[in-house]
This record gives sequence, C-alpha cells and structure tokens, in this order.
Amino acid sequence: MRLGMHTLTEGRGLLFGGDYNPEQWPEEVWAKDAELMRAAGVNLVTVGVFSWSRLEPEPGRHDFGWLDRVLDLMAAHDIAVDLAIPTASPPPWLGHRWPETLPVDERGQRLWYGSRNQYCPSSRVYRERSQSITTALAERYAGHPALAMWHVGNEYGEVCHCDASAAAFRDWLRARYGDLDTLNEAWGTTFWSQGYGDWAEIVPPRHAPYIINPTQRLDWWRFCSDELLAHFREQRDILRAHTPDLPITTNFMGLFKRVDYFSFAAEEDIVSNDCYPEPGNPRTPALTALTHDLMRGLGGGRPWLLMEQSTSAVNFRGHNLPKPPGQFRLESLQAVARGADGLCYFQWRASRFGAERFHAAMVPHAGEDTRLHAEVRAHGQELRRLASLAGQPVPARVAMVFDWASWWALEDRGRPSDRLNATEQLLDYYTPFFERGVSVDVVPPSADLSAYALVVVPNLFLVSDRDAAALTAYARGGGVLVVGPFSGVVDPNAHVRTGRFPAPLREVLGASGEEWLPVADGQVVRCRWRAAANPDTAGLDSAGPDSAGPDSAGPDSAGPDSAGSGGAEFGARAWTELLRSDGAEVVAEFAEGDLAGSPAVLRNRAGDGVAWYVGTMPDAAALGALAERALADAGVRGPLPGLPPGVEAVRRGDVLFLLNHGTSTVRVPIPEPADDLLTGSTAEGHVTLTSRAVAALRPHTPS
Ligand code: GLA
Repeated sequence: MRLGMHTLTEGRGLLFGGDYNPEQWPEEVWAKDAELMRAAGVNLVTVGVFSWSRLEPEPGRHDFGWLDRVLDLMAAHDIAVDLAIPTASPPPWLGHRWPETLPVDERGQRLWYGSRNQYCPSSRVYRERSQSITTALAERYAGHPALAMWHVGNEYGEVCHCDASAAAFRDWLRARYGDLDTLNEAWGTTFWSQGYGDWAEIVPPRHAPYIINPTQRLDWWRFCSDELLAHFREQRDILRAHTPDLPITTNFMGLFKRVDYFSFAAEEDIVSNDCYPEPGNPRTPALTALTHDLMRGLGGGRPWLLMEQSTSAVNFRGHNLPKPPGQFRLESLQAVARGADGLCYFQWRASRFGAERFHAAMVPHAGEDTRLHAEVRAHGQELRRLASLAGQPVPARVAMVFDWASWWALEDRGRPSDRLNATEQLLDYYTPFFERGVSVDVVPPSADLSAYALVVVPNLFLVSDRDAAALTAYARGGGVLVVGPFSGVVDPNAHVRTGRFPAPLREVLGASGEEWLPVADGQVVRCRWRAAANPDTAGLDSAGPDSAGPDSAGPDSAGPDSAGSGGAEFGARAWTELLRSDGAEVVAEFAEGDLAGSPAVLRNRAGDGVAWYVGTMPDAAALGALAERALADAGVRGPLPGLPPGVEAVRRGDVLFLLNHGTSTVRVPIPEPADDLLTGSTAEGHVTLTSRAVAALRPHTPS
C-alpha cells in the first residue's frame, strides 16, 4: 500500500460522506445536495458505482457530460470524489449482445440482468469491456480537481460455473500443479474413481449427486477469489498508469467468505469496508468491533475507510429494524476508535425508485428537515473535533489468527460436525477480549507474530507446515499461544494429517488427541477446572486472578485462576475430543459421560512460552476465564479495570474511547483526568455515559 488514507485526510481530517447517486435525480436537486453536504461537513462522496449504463449507453459510446458537471460541482464545494469504476453492474446491452458475460450457477442456470452483479468474472468480453470503461474514465478524469481516489467495482464476490470459467479454472490448476498426476494426487482422485486423464475433463464443482471432492472445492474457492482479484488488478493497473498518486480501493464486506481479503488487501492502497450491523442482536457490538479489527489487520495496522454503513434500517433483511437515535453515531465512533479514518454511508439521498428505495440514507425521503438528517449533520460536524486522530494507530498486544483457506476447507460437507464454524469460533474467542477492553489485531497465519504477547487461534483446521512451524516457534520463543479445537487437522490439500492430532502442533501443545466426538444438540457437557498441579503454573496462579483482565473479579472469573483449588464447573457444547496430556498440564477436564476425567483444556510450558489447547466449545464464561488466564500468562491488561457490561473501551493513539452499547446509564471510573474531545469538557474520577453515549478521552493537560 503505497498510498494510504493520509493522502485523503491530510488537510481534511477524518472523512465523512457517502455514496452519491445523482443520476437518480434531476439536476436541480444536485445544487441543493452540494449545499446540504457542506452544511453536514461532508468532504468525500463516492460517485458512479452503478452508472455504467448512463456512462456508456451503448458499446463504445460514452456520455460523460453529466458526470463532468457532478465532479465540477463537488470541486466547487471542496468535496473530494471517490470515483467508482462501475463494473459491478454491467448495462443490459452487455448481457443482451454477449450472453456469455452472464454468470451461470452450479446447476447450469444463467442469471439474468434486471438486478446487479450479473457478470462472469472469467468472461473475456466482460473483462475487455471493464478495461475499456476504466480507461475511458481514467483518461477523462485524471487531473480533475475533485478526484481524490478510485473505487473499483463494488463488493467483489461473483462466482460463475460456465465453460469459460471452467477453462480459466483449468489454467489456474495447471499453474498450481503443472501436470495431471500432481493434481490427481493433490485431489485424492483415487477416492470414488475420480482420476482425471485429460485436463478437458476437469470442471468447476457443479451440481452433483452427492458430496463433491473437498480438494476440488477448496481449489475452486481459491480460484474464484484469485479470478476476482485478477479482474481488480486489471482495472487498478490502468488507473495507476493514469493517476499514480491517487489511492485505489475496492469495498469489502467484513467476514465475507467468497473472497480472501488478505490477498486483496495486499493489492490495494486503502482497505475499505461496508458494515451493516444488525440492530437488536446482543452480539452485534462485538461482531462489529471484530470486523473493524479485521480491517486494521488487513491493512497491516494502517487506518482504513468505512465505505458504507447505514443511518437507520436497511432493506435487505426480511424484517428491517430501524436504528434508535444516537445509534449510527455510536457505530460510526466505534469505527473511528478502531482505526477508521473515514465514515461514509450508503447513501446520501434515499432513492425514490429501484430495489433499495426503502433503505435509509443521510437525507431521507422526508427531506432535510428531519430528526435523522439533523443527526447526520451534527455527527458530521462533531467529527471535526476528532481530526487529530487521523493516522493514529490502535495498539494491540493480542493477535487473533484467521485464514480464508482454512475457513473454506472447514465449512464443507462431510465433516464431523457443522456446529463448529470458523467465524463463530472467531467471534466466541474474540468476545471476552472485547468485553475486557483488550485490543486485538486479526491477522493471517503467515503474519509476523513477534510483536504480540498473546496469539489466539480460535480454529485453524487447515494449516501449512510453515505456518504450524511459525506458531510453534512463536510460543517456544516466549509467546503465549491459544489454539482452539479441530485445528491443525488438514494440510493445504485438505488431506487429513495422520497420527495423533493436531499433528503439526501437538509438540508445542504438549497434548494430542485421537477422536473427535461431537455431542447432541442441546446437550451441555459439564467440565471442571482442575487445581494447578505443576509448580510452574502454580507460580502463575499465585499472581492471582486480578493480575490479568481488568474485570477479573466479575462473574466470568470462576475459572482456572479463581479455581486455584480447582473444582469450579463450566459447560461446553457441540464438540468434544478424546485428548491426553503429553506433558501439558490439564487445566480443565470433562466431568461427565464417557470422557469424564479426560482433558478438555491443557496448558503447556513450551520453550520460553506457553501453549494452550482447548478441545471443546466452552461456554462464554469459561472462555472469559480462559482469556483472563492467557492474558495473565502474557502480562497484558485492558485499559480500564471494572468496565461495566455493555461498555466498550478501546484506545486509539492517546485517546481512550468509551462507548456505551447498553440501555442504561453507567458510571465508568477513569484513572486520570481527561478531556472529552467530543464535548470539550474535562472528566475526573469517572465519566457518566447514558445509553449509546460515547466519550473520547485524552489525558488532560492543564492549559
Ligand atoms: C451494499 C452495496 C450498496 C447497497 C448497500 C445496501 O453495501 O455496496 O450498493 O446495496 O449494500 O445496504
């Protein structure tokens, strides 16, 4: 990433704005839009995401006049433009004249135009037409004073199973394997008589009678992601040639399965994300925080851009709950606290027509004289008070490892249980850190882990030898490693690693297993913390429960620490493993059933560090206790002791954000006098936060 958010924030502070679709409105409205934007503090708009048919009404004939006027208007109002390359929604003429550009699903059914995203990523015509509109836009707008960045496509994620895609898949496989023998071995095609004798026989995983070859499916996921990335790169290279000093992005969708965002992020200048938290779901604040931390991880810690969020209800869920007053502000500030340097919305003005006419916007159908727009305006204004945060890092000493290939490999048919999922494991392990105000970076297994005191691997079903060796070296070198269940099971070909599991990690874990034993739905398996046995752990125990998390005196503390004498119980669900210690201390054991007395959680002194293994899915309180214990091992604390439930604490630069996601007013003790950047007031001893209130506290420096 040569060009980061600083290219946009320098001289502007934090960015505020949204998708602007003026082509949906008569030109009289545009001037009013520009005035309203200024009044709301808007300094960035994304234009043209879905304008291809307006910009190129027929192949090769361009109509740029209207866009010229939009960009001129934005320049006159000092509003920067993130100009989109409109390839996410090709015009009807593309599918009409070249039906092969339309995507085909796994049953061979073509998907038609009339919505959006109807393209085959491998279609030669689509690729050429994409490059042609990109070149035309780059030639016309390079040097325009409003143009500040490029936005390629929209929410990449299309998949196509047509014959052109099959041919491209074969090319990709040839590059990966070289010859058919190697492919046959990698895919394990001796199983079910699947041996390939000719490249032409290989097809995408199309609709088939029964479970499809898992390695074929895994390679298909890899290919689809790479193919979209190839499309992105083609547009990026054209844009870069015309405007080498402007950053280029494409907007992500958080934990979106079809695209490996780590590979995309490495190819773009700015990481940007679309985030639509689900109102009313108690896990939403943690999931949103996790998504934001992933965005930071994707960019190697750099600031990122919240490209889309909603001021209130969306329209893509069945029953779309509105956001109460103060909610979108709270969510927006949550993103700032977690490293966003720009806060943008879908969209500026609510559409009157089209598929999203009931989606909230910055200017609702009822107009600007509304509660919602007043809130938008106030928020845009207040963001100016946070301008000094632009570019500031969010320091984290804890990393959580996540990997798309492992996700793809795990969540396929034919596994022991579909109750153990990659993103749910990630959120379950993330939540106790979130609740304790401990910042976490979400990183790929190949990341440099040396700067982290604690590395958590909620699940890494697929692991390469190299990554397993790096995790091992990390712990042996003094780090604290926590590994969740069903990790280290398969290699990059999705072949099971034989021997006791997790084969490539069992040495560092000092523990190993022989059977995965899913349990019935609804059954809670009782587990018991054991008393610390070995002197090494007892020493750590003697540091006491308060040595770790800020709120270790809370209800979650009935765990390995407070259970110094052992005996406290917790529940686990869905998943158990038959494990044994090969030297690790058994920290918790199963307390009932066939596994009674056998290890559930183990902790191993590995070289200069510590490695934990969790062979089940413990309840939230037990995961909290485990997090505290791992934090104690790592010597990491959250920023504030005794955080009330529902309050999120996160430090960005020298500013401590406190965000009240709860419904009642809370009093949060603070260690030193601080100035609240949002209100301008000074707080001492504590701050009081009403529901949905936020404080942005910078240590007070007397003037
Ligand atoms: C996505 C898209 C937008 C719009 C919003 C609606 O983020 O990028 O075009 O459809 O969803 O929430």
